[in-house]
Amino acid sequence: MKFEQRKDLLGLKELSREEILQILDTAVPMKDIIKRDIKKVPTLRGKAMVTIFYENSTRTRTSFELAGKYLSADTTNLAVSTSSVQKGESLRDTIKTMEMMGFDLMVMRHSMSGTPHYVARNTTMRVINAGDGANEHPTQALLDMYTMREHKGKLDGLKVAIVGDIRHSRVARSNIWGLTKFGCEIRVVGPSTLIPPEIEKMGVKVYYDLDTALDGVDVINVLRIQRERQEVGFFPSLDEYADLYMLRPEHLLRAKDDVLVLHPGPMNRGIEISSEIADGSHALINEQVTNGVAVRMALLFLMMGGAKDEIAI
Ligand code: CP
Repeated sequence: MKFEQRKDLLGLKELSREEILQILDTAVPMKDIIKRDIKKVPTLRGKAMVTIFYENSTRTRTSFELAGKYLSADTTNLAVSTSSVQKGESLRDTIKTMEMMGFDLMVMRHSMSGTPHYVARNTTMRVINAGDGANEHPTQALLDMYTMREHKGKLDGLKVAIVGDIRHSRVARSNIWGLTKFGCEIRVVGPSTLIPPEIEKMGVKVYYDLDTALDGVDVINVLRIQRERQEVGFFPSLDEYADLYMLRPEHLLRAKDDVLVLHPGPMNRGIEISSEIADGSHALINEQVTNGVAVRMALLFLMMGGAKDEIAI
């Protein structure tokens, strides 16, 4: 199945390895467009997309909007905090209103897992999940995989450690769904309170000691401590978390010499990642941001009809 035959992108769980590779391959010429002086191609002229974020975002929302603009789609953001959602308008009515305005595609983030799936079943617009609760953040995992493949030349068989708040992390789940399709060895590491027991069923190895988990790894993906989702204390204090799990230069000695350090952002410097690492030579955190635009351009291109024509670059 070609990816563009799907109506929606809701998660990496349901995507095949071939579909993931198709998206990553399509993102390569998109990255070339971003590097040009004139970053605009006419490919999606006449198409319209809307971003609706019921949770805060800097990277995902802005990069989707920019990706649409680079491809000449008309892009609009529905600012939830100043919209009629605040007057009590239901999700269903909000979505129908967007559909009736003629949008072709909606990018949605919501705190409740499964909300984009519900929306996708109830609209003719194509829907991209930009993060739903602790379930999935497929475009983040795709840009992470793009970054790994660009630097390592492959995805197959990589050893990847995912560090930190696994319990609340949709980024971790989407990375696991995606990377297991390439036979990667995935290790999750963090305090036991932040590692749900069912995660092992996804085919990952669980570690509680950071040094042991990093032994011989190709990639370290550091997760943000999501203080806003910690309704009960999952660890005694941020200082104690940092003592045990903050990634510092000495930890890299356990990993491969050319280990890549990723972080989805936003970072809590001094809690899950030290500034020496975040600003150091192994970190690809800034490059991930650029790759996020390229991957989102690829998705919009494939989902709004660009794949029917030659890429107009
Ligand atoms: N990584 C990520 O989703 O960042 P934002 O919350 O800023 O979109």
